[in-house]
Amino acid sequence: MTSANRYLTSWESFWSTSTGTPGEIFWDADPAHAAQQDLALFQGHADPQLPLVDLGCGNGTQTRFLANHFARVIGTEISPAAVQIAQTKHAAPNASYRVLDVLSPDDAQALHEEIGDANLYMRGVLHQLSPADHETAIESIGRLLGTKGTLYLIELSSAAEPFFARLIQQHGLPPGLARVFQHQITPGLLSEKNLESLFPSDRFTLLGTGQSHIQTVHTLPTGEVVKIPAFFAIFRKLRAAQ
Ligand SMILES: C[S@@+](CC[C@H](N)C(=O)[O-])C[C@H]1O[C@@H](n2cnc3c(N)ncnc32)[C@H](O)[C@@H]1O
Repeated sequence: MTSANRYLTSWESFWSTSTGTPGEIFWDADPAHAAQQDLALFQGHADPQLPLVDLGCGNGTQTRFLANHFARVIGTEISPAAVQIAQTKHAAPNASYRVLDVLSPDDAQALHEEIGDANLYMRGVLHQLSPADHETAIESIGRLLGTKGTLYLIELSSAAEPFFARLIQQHGLPPGLARVFQHQITPGLLSEKNLESLFPSDRFTLLGTGQSHIQTVHTLPTGEVVKIPAFFAIFRKLRAAQ
């Protein structure tokens, strides 16, 4: 099985068996605690007249919110089941959803030919890919950005692993996380320390980076909502690298 098929099999299984029960999708935070914090960081860098592609948009919760702030938003997903949920639950006049594997640069190129340069939003997607696949994903990202698009990504940071270890030791495995593992989804490794090698400065301009968190839907017995340590980064492609 190719690595791309591995992602399709596990994520399609994950999304096609989701029931919509609150709390089922571990990272499915209200946009007020997710895309809104992200938007405040990248809005000033991104041309709102360009379309925004939410790469690996899942069930479209964040995509729908972002559609309030960009002329056109397209949520893309490897999982047809996720696309269907997003189309049903998070429709908006200027939002559409489609299947696109971020590991298919030719498909990214075809989308670029259709919509032109695009801003990109990626929340919790790159770290799901095996490190061996990062370069291919970034090739797709580069093709979608073109010369004018801005990329915003937010991913778990190097502090996430010890954070999870402590969380599980103190409170047990959150059900939403157990469900991820049941579908053979095994997070790869990515950290803020990899940014320069993944997005080399001879191809990308780093516009901003810093610590952040990915809010989950899991509340601890203490009443505290679990927020996973994360980092954000904002990039544009260097013109000379086109
Ligand atoms: C942790 S979820 C985040 C979903 C969404 N970004 C959010 O914040 O709600 C990761 C998403 O990446 C998608 N995904 C995994 N591999 C992918 C690939 N190769 N191409 C496109 N999407 C992919 C999964 O189906 C899943 O919906």
